[in-house]
Amino acid sequence: AVLILLGPPGAGKGTQARMLEEKFGLVQLSTGDLLRAAVAAGTEAGKVAKAVMEAGELVSDGIVIAILRDRMAEPDCARGVILDGFPRTTVQAEALDGLLAETGQKIGAAISLEVEDAEMVSRISGRYTCAGCGEGYHDTFKQPAQSGKCDKCGSTEFKRRADDNAETVASRLAAYHEQTAPLIEYYKGKGVLKQIDAMGEIGEIAHNLETIVKGAM
Ligand code: AP5
Ligand code: ZN
Repeated sequence: AVLILLGPPGAGKGTQARMLEEKFGLVQLSTGDLLRAAVAAGTEAGKVAKAVMEAGELVSDGIVIAILRDRMAEPDCARGVILDGFPRTTVQAEALDGLLAETGQKIGAAISLEVEDAEMVSRISGRYTCAGCGEGYHDTFKQPAQSGKCDKCGSTEFKRRADDNAETVASRLAAYHEQTAPLIEYYKGKGVLKQIDAMGEIGEIAHNLETIVKGAM
């Protein structure tokens, strides 16, 4: 099945998607990660995306849909995917419907992680990830068991994202409210929407998500 994680920046989409990937063998597909890889590789799409991402605005539908299409065509995605950060506009949601109609896949659930705006700012400003394996951490909410050493791969190098600063977070939130939040109604209309409270602890949210995913696969 195809599962969608909807939610504002810092809601915990990446954190939860990685846990679901491990638990259910689904492929985590993050358009944010794919775009950051394109920027790092210096591809044509990456060159266009870089400035847009640094401003906290949405990259054009054309670029994002092309990147998603290519990734969905890879054989591992046949196991089932968890979309993290896509779709983010109605145009993207309609493109996804078209793509799934071609491949015969179905949306099992579109899960909206609900968080208050103030909480997102503190989550994003404390965020960092392992440079070795990409595991996500937070200065106060999720530190490695051994200080300075990744729990998953033992790496001692960590990095912070260029767009995780106060000004950019404000534009990212505005983009979410204007362009992405309407998808909640879109998926409600299709009868696949699930809303969960994402203000609690990571483990508790993961537990609620697992129940939904089990019922949707
Ligand atoms: P993207 O990479 O998708 O970023 P985002 O949506 O802003 O989401 P984040 O990655 O910031 O947050 P998250 O929900 O994954 O939270 P996380 O789990 O890390 O997009 C970046 C940019 O790329 C966009 O601005 C846009 O320009 C472009 N882009 C991407 N997709 C696009 C698309 N489809 N169309 C157009 N443009 C696109 O958690 C955050 C922190 O909080 C972590 O430190 C974590 O440890 C901590 N945390 C998580 N859960 C909890 C909890 N329950 N309690 C306490 N702390 C928690
Ligand atoms: Zn690591």
